[in-house]
Amino acid sequence: MALYAIGDTHLSLSGNKPMDIFGGAWQGYVDKLRIGFESIREDDTVVLCGDISWGMSLVESKEDFSFLNALPGKKIIIKGNHDYWWTTKSKMDRFFAEQGFSKLQILHNNCYTYENIALCGTRGWFYEEDAKIADQKVFNREISRLETSLKSAENKEKLCFLHYPPYYQGYQCKPIIDLLEQYDVKACYYGHLHGGSQRLAIQGKLGNVAYRLVAADYINFKPTKICD
Ligand SMILES: [Fe+2]
Repeated sequence: MALYAIGDTHLSLSGNKPMDIFGGAWQGYVDKLRIGFESIREDDTVVLCGDISWGMSLVESKEDFSFLNALPGKKIIIKGNHDYWWTTKSKMDRFFAEQGFSKLQILHNNCYTYENIALCGTRGWFYEEDAKIADQKVFNREISRLETSLKSAENKEKLCFLHYPPYYQGYQCKPIIDLLEQYDVKACYYGHLHGGSQRLAIQGKLGNVAYRLVAADYINFKPTKICD
């Protein structure tokens, strides 16, 4: 039994947005994902850090979920900025149950437990959205979602999974970082950064939290092992 994380699978199996057109690391990425999951066992847990599918609705994303469900291990899903299919947790849970996607679970205002470790998280916030004043509401909602998730972990050791990086060269999202420190989170895994922006990722221990980028194209589409 082991715990892993990977972000940004960006699947489009029944759609028209396959990432292969970007070339480079994305060439043949669906096969790379399949190969990357070969070392995962059925009793392992993999947290998917957002940007799961390009589908605009649960139905449009169905084939992508089917692909992920068929890969070994339990998958815990958080939202990315491109997950337009995202809806209420009850609707997503019901859809997964109806489709028999028993290995997919949604992390949203809650936490899951891996052994004695709490897996917390939410989408997070990035400077790309800072300019939009109207988004202040979304920002506040994200902060409160993260806190709800961290609170639900009670006294357990905590790991946090975000889509957006809390630190990036020239940027830090202080309200999120403060919550991670306040709730004594040991490590934080995030995605979102692709291509050249990965050079500006900030990783390693800052304060009391260890940060790590797990965007799929950064880790060659093989989930990063967190612990056994
Ligand atoms: Fe992405």
